[in-house]
Amino acid sequence: MRKVLVIGGAGYIGAHASKMLRSAGVSPVVYDSLVAGHRSFVKWGKFVKGDVSDRRLLKAVFKAEKINAVLHFAAYASVGESVENPAKYYDNNLSGTLALLDAMRDSGVKTLVFSSSAAVYGEPIKVPISEGHPKNPVNPYGRTKFFIEEAVADYSRAYSMKFTCLRYFNAAGADPAGDIGESHYPETHLIPLVLCAASGGPAIKVYGGNYETPDGTCLRDYVHVTDLADAHYLALKRLWSGGDSQNYNLGNGKAHSVLQVIDAAEKHTGKRIPFVMAPRRVGDPAVLVASSVLAKRDLRWRPRLSVLDRIISTAWSWHMCRKNGVHHRPDGAIDK
Ligand code: NAD
Ligand code: UFG
Repeated sequence: MRKVLVIGGAGYIGAHASKMLRSAGVSPVVYDSLVAGHRSFVKWGKFVKGDVSDRRLLKAVFKAEKINAVLHFAAYASVGESVENPAKYYDNNLSGTLALLDAMRDSGVKTLVFSSSAAVYGEPIKVPISEGHPKNPVNPYGRTKFFIEEAVADYSRAYSMKFTCLRYFNAAGADPAGDIGESHYPETHLIPLVLCAASGGPAIKVYGGNYETPDGTCLRDYVHVTDLADAHYLALKRLWSGGDSQNYNLGNGKAHSVLQVIDAAEKHTGKRIPFVMAPRRVGDPAVLVASSVLAKRDLRWRPRLSVLDRIISTAWSWHMCRKNGVHHRPDGAIDK
């Protein structure tokens, strides 16, 4: 059985990818510092506690576990925080990934799937956004992803490594079987905060009502986390069967405004969701919508769950099952 090191596999998307790998007959070894993840999310393979910047430990794990490929999810991923504290992002995301690339090169591990982001594009000049769209990230988080993509491409050229950078748009929803779901602390993402508000948590602050969009709030492309997990396995399969290094957008191609998300969540939950208008959040582009034509063509990616109702229904089921006996923190996040 092939073995894949899932760095950041105790986090939201990495845990869903680990489950997907296991169901596809690949063995995930989760490597995570637990700075933000959950030990309880590691259910489908071995766990190694470690930091992505620890070259020595990475090399030891590559050797001991006979690792065939790496999925690299580990990063800090909050746009607003990256504006306030860019050093934290350059250090963990960029320096950490450079250490990983060195460890892979030194160990002869040549296959990498990297979690990139729509944030590499910045404010789009054309939507839907395709992979060739100019990259002008408008916040430090997006810039770390952009610089990493460049570094990964250079390493691949010089050291004959192969990579796929998957640029996710807004990951959302939860495992339909209810095994895992979204749980960040502090939570900053719209959908979990909206669901917290639906179940008695604090009112949602809608960041900006004066964008040039139909209802004045930001438009995003919400993609189901299980569909993202699928794409990782498909990307690995493609690289293992000789595919070249590529970047792919992963989204569902539909734009939903903040107010539309709140409305859809009210309809699904049957609860009133309190919200207040608030100033724009620094670093937020007005519109991010993907063209995923390339992923559908090359990876044969077929997103099946990425419709807003399904995203909200799976996230709500996860939220309700976590809520029993779980403490809501004042900022709306859920305790680990
Ligand atoms: P997450 O915070 O739930 O998971 C990240 C995991 O990485 C956590 O388990 C954390 O403990 C681990 N980690 C962080 N720094 C580490 C380090 N130095 N060493 C080892 N482990 C470390 O985040 P997520 O939402 O699952 O996002 C996963 C990846 O996807 C990130 O790279 C993020 O930038 C990217 N991404 C996420 C979204 C989204 O909407 N959530 C969108 C685009 C891109
Ligand atoms: N929003 C609010 N109130 C909130 C939280 C969010 O109005 O309390 C708005 C944001 O301003 C944005 C939208 O809801 O317009 C979505 O915000 P999220 O924080 O859920 O997600 P982001 O779009 O900021 O970022 C996410 C990931 C990034 C990724 C990006 C790509 O966190 O990693 O999607 O689209 F780069």
